[in-house]
Amino acid sequence: MIAKAIQFISQFAREHFSPDNFNYAELGIDNGVTFNQVAPMFHHACAVDISADDHKYIRHNHNLKWFNLHTDEFIRDILPSENITFAVVFIDAWHEYTQVLKDFQGILPYVMDNGFIFLHDTYPANKDELDPMICNDAYKAADYIRFNLNNRVEIVTLPSHHGLSIIRKANRTLLWKKY
Ligand SMILES: C[S@@+](CC[C@H](N)C(=O)[O-])C[C@H]1O[C@@H](n2cnc3c(N)ncnc32)[C@H](O)[C@@H]1O
Repeated sequence: MIAKAIQFISQFAREHFSPDNFNYAELGIDNGVTFNQVAPMFHHACAVDISADDHKYIRHNHNLKWFNLHTDEFIRDILPSENITFAVVFIDAWHEYTQVLKDFQGILPYVMDNGFIFLHDTYPANKDELDPMICNDAYKAADYIRFNLNNRVEIVTLPSHHGLSIIRKANRTLLWKKY
């Protein structure tokens, strides 16, 4: 379901970007279930995971950029010199609220206007799913964005499959018009 939702939104995003700028980043890959389905739609696809093992699960498409790093290192050490911007980003690494927010704020400058960021695990269905190894308190990052950054982005949270927040980088609905 997560991959399908990201693919669906990405189809729309594609209309707004030139093929050369239609890039994807996924922070937190695990066994590549989402990455392997979504990445082929894009020009470049960055896969970031602290676990070196995950490399073996990724399909080695021509467009793959693999980074065996902590997300903090990817944002601090790689992005400033990589000369890449993203149409779509999926943040699904460490689900503790401050880390999710750090990942979000760190990568936001590299997301194009009208681009999308997805946050996973932002709607635990019950108390058990607040477990640090399941959703943790990632939902607080969605709330922080809703209440503090709504002059920069739009956000909606789908309350299924542990929750998927969809964020559009736009400070108003129409970006092509001054109003
Ligand atoms: C929930 S899984 C990702 C699932 C994957 N996005 C999918 O849809 O199938 C989380 C992954 O994040 C990685 N991870 C956890 N903390 C991380 C961090 N600080 N930096 C990079 N990767 C991290 C873990 O190694 C794990 O593979």
